[in-house]
Amino acid sequence: MEVYNLFPERALSYVVELQNGKRVRYVNLDNAATTIPFSSALERIASEVSSYGSVHRGAGQKSKVTTDNYEAARKTIADFVGASSENYVIFTKNTTESVNLAATLWKEFNGKVLVSDIEHSSNLLPWLQQEGRENLLQYKTTADGRIDLAEIEKILQANDDIKLLAITGSSNITGYKPDIHAIAELCHRYKAKIFVDACQLLQHKQLDILSDIDPRHIDFVAFSGHKMYAPFGIGVLVGPKEFFDASEPYQIGGGNLPYIRRDLEVLRYSTVQTFDPGTPNAFGVIALAESIQKLQELGVERIAKYEHSLVERAFDGLQSIDGVRLYVQRDALGVVIPFEIDGFHAKLTAEILAQEYGIGTRAGSFCTYELVRKLKGTTVKEDRIIAEEVKQGITKNIPAVVRASFGLSNTLEDVERLVGAVAEITQNGASFYEIRYKEDDTNESYTLR
Ligand code: ALA
Repeated sequence: MEVYNLFPERALSYVVELQNGKRVRYVNLDNAATTIPFSSALERIASEVSSYGSVHRGAGQKSKVTTDNYEAARKTIADFVGASSENYVIFTKNTTESVNLAATLWKEFNGKVLVSDIEHSSNLLPWLQQEGRENLLQYKTTADGRIDLAEIEKILQANDDIKLLAITGSSNITGYKPDIHAIAELCHRYKAKIFVDACQLLQHKQLDILSDIDPRHIDFVAFSGHKMYAPFGIGVLVGPKEFFDASEPYQIGGGNLPYIRRDLEVLRYSTVQTFDPGTPNAFGVIALAESIQKLQELGVERIAKYEHSLVERAFDGLQSIDGVRLYVQRDALGVVIPFEIDGFHAKLTAEILAQEYGIGTRAGSFCTYELVRKLKGTTVKEDRIIAEEVKQGITKNIPAVVRASFGLSNTLEDVERLVGAVAEITQNGASFYEIRYKEDDTNESYTLR
């Protein structure tokens, strides 16, 4: 697949200076955190600048053009996930805000929320904050972080007051993609709804939320533009119109309510605009629609195949290096590879990859603590000790792994750079780097001496 012309040349050929003074092309293997923009999204925004005006407010031509483009983009985004006129597509600033929005509204409905133990904090803490410990149940996944439908069913059977189940569409650490439609069917059988955090999914796999007459349909889905090649600060929450029309708006202010009477009675719309307070991020919405069009033009399945071929090559290369521990199985590969080098703290490996090879990865627990504890086999006792240390400001023993996450902008050369670098680091051994890197005594960070 020819990927060079999809992205700005200056982003793909970005050069960084290494600690030895050499300059190399930066390799971005942190796509699960954020992606570089599509050229088409950037060009679209550049062209929108000339006609940019206020959305849903002004009578002038520019306001009309931007309002039309904004609403057309909302339709493109709706179609991309199979949302119908029975759904609202609500804009936020990112997936985290979308989950907070949903959790705030769901709090007004009786019942409990069920979450998995492999969720990113953004799909855990908003539910915990709104529901409290007593109304939040957690279902256990298998030792390698996969969903066990029987475990979910057991909890649904034992609790007839579960209103919603929240689940990731794809793990940000292992890339595992639960069968969300099978989970949806199970939830609906027990009169619960399903909420999918799809921010790691949609750029790699087509999702159709399906019509609500299908028992396998997805009720709510949240995602972000910045992980889909449109980094302009936009998030999305899709859900049933009926639910939102029965809820108070998450935020309130100008533009989302049609009239306030003299006695302060507030009249509201039964439209998506109730959830569009203030001047919206029109460029974010339009850029996301543009990137969706690019993904569709290329074909999400074709993209997935391309990415998969890179990830498999990286996996095979890393696996062949003695001393490298991979935390994912080859037959369960997504677009991320969590790994470690024996004898190295994950943060040190990531620092060396950046400083000595110009390769951007990420190390840590990725806001997904229980999954990293599972992968690393952290015991209950160790967990307790780590928590005590954290209370004293010591974070260096929080379980961590290195994550290389791939995307459409990567090439085989990027894979070769990663594998070559890891082989060399492993061969040099940890003591080789001790004189070059300083470990922070309390926190798990490393800096050049
Ligand atoms: N959630 C993002 C990640 O996994 C930021 O890196």
